[in-house]
Amino acid sequence: MQNQDVYDKVLAAFAAKFGGKPEKVAYAPGRIEVLGNHTDYNEGYVFSAAIDKGTFFAVSAAADDTVTLVALDMNETYTCKLADVKKVETGATWANYPLGTFNWLFDGEPAKAGKGFKAVFGGNIPLGAGLSSSAALEMATVLALAALYGIEKDKTTLAKIGQKAEHTFAGCPCGLLDQASSLYGKEGSLVKSDFRYCQFENVDLGPTVAFMMVKSNAKHALVDGAYASRRQACEDAAKYFAGVLKHPVTHLRDVSCAEWILYRGGLSETTAKRAIHPIGEDERVVNGAALLEKGDLAAFGSLMFDSHESSRNWFENSCEELDTIVDAAKAIPEVLGARLSGGGFGGSCCLLVKPEAADKIAAAITAAYKTAYGDEPTCALIKPSAGAHLV
Ligand code: GLA
Repeated sequence: MQNQDVYDKVLAAFAAKFGGKPEKVAYAPGRIEVLGNHTDYNEGYVFSAAIDKGTFFAVSAAADDTVTLVALDMNETYTCKLADVKKVETGATWANYPLGTFNWLFDGEPAKAGKGFKAVFGGNIPLGAGLSSSAALEMATVLALAALYGIEKDKTTLAKIGQKAEHTFAGCPCGLLDQASSLYGKEGSLVKSDFRYCQFENVDLGPTVAFMMVKSNAKHALVDGAYASRRQACEDAAKYFAGVLKHPVTHLRDVSCAEWILYRGGLSETTAKRAIHPIGEDERVVNGAALLEKGDLAAFGSLMFDSHESSRNWFENSCEELDTIVDAAKAIPEVLGARLSGGGFGGSCCLLVKPEAADKIAAAITAAYKTAYGDEPTCALIKPSAGAHLV
């Protein structure tokens, strides 16, 4: 089994804390975002992949109405009664991800569960790296709890339960990308998502390329307002375009680059800059899909570089550290493409690479980063992997 060592640790901790074996265990992976940045909540397109690192959630029913959550990696426990399930404001705020997921699995009425549960979770996704450790926790939670309580829901509904937990318990107004990628991932494949119709398709990548994630040491926090302000600017821009364009516009998905050029004058300079990023990203994903079909990985990679430029110049969700990584990557012939991955403002870059040159690439990027900042980024080859499942 993938990540057997983590599974063993979680089960050992469960036995130590509660005695015996859990009734249900679920696994959910993190994700990388390959192309299409901040397009999900604009009802656009994304290429992503589930990664080979993830979170296990092991759970059994409680005898009464107590909810107990053990965060193995932090060595912390959170307990409450069913009637008291609500957002944790201070202290064990990590509990908001599983707690919020549980809350929305029961449509906001957790008391309806009847009995509580006792759970241990743990994983190996580095935190704050932009690899969606939080969505992995939500998806492992929702799969395990749905199985425990005998609730059947389709994958997209499960993804939306996790997203609602992010919005209401964790305080990040995210789209659906992270949860969907964790659920719909497939070994060796990308996930191509269309967030207007919630359609998810696996696209084979072939054996000649791989992804390398380079984690900067720059802070990545999406709950501190920068993510929300970008989303707001996109919504403001969509409203404006709905007023000036003749065809229906509900989201930036409905606006083309040509229309942006023609009508951007009516927007404030900042809102116009924000809007062109998801608009351009949608076009890049559509073009990228055609390039992948033709097997033109070099041209696909160059769209990734374009995507990063758009983040850097228009959306301003990059940072010096991520720019340094992408600039260094551009100078390496065995790197086909590179861009920031996920929310931005720190976190990781996603590189499309020739896997046989992985060591050389990691050494060159580490050297460039070290020269600029004195410390070293973390470089890891990522294998697109299976999506979340019950173990
Ligand atoms: C974060 C969010 C996602 C998505 C990306 C940017 O990962 O959680 O919903 O918006 O940023 O594409």
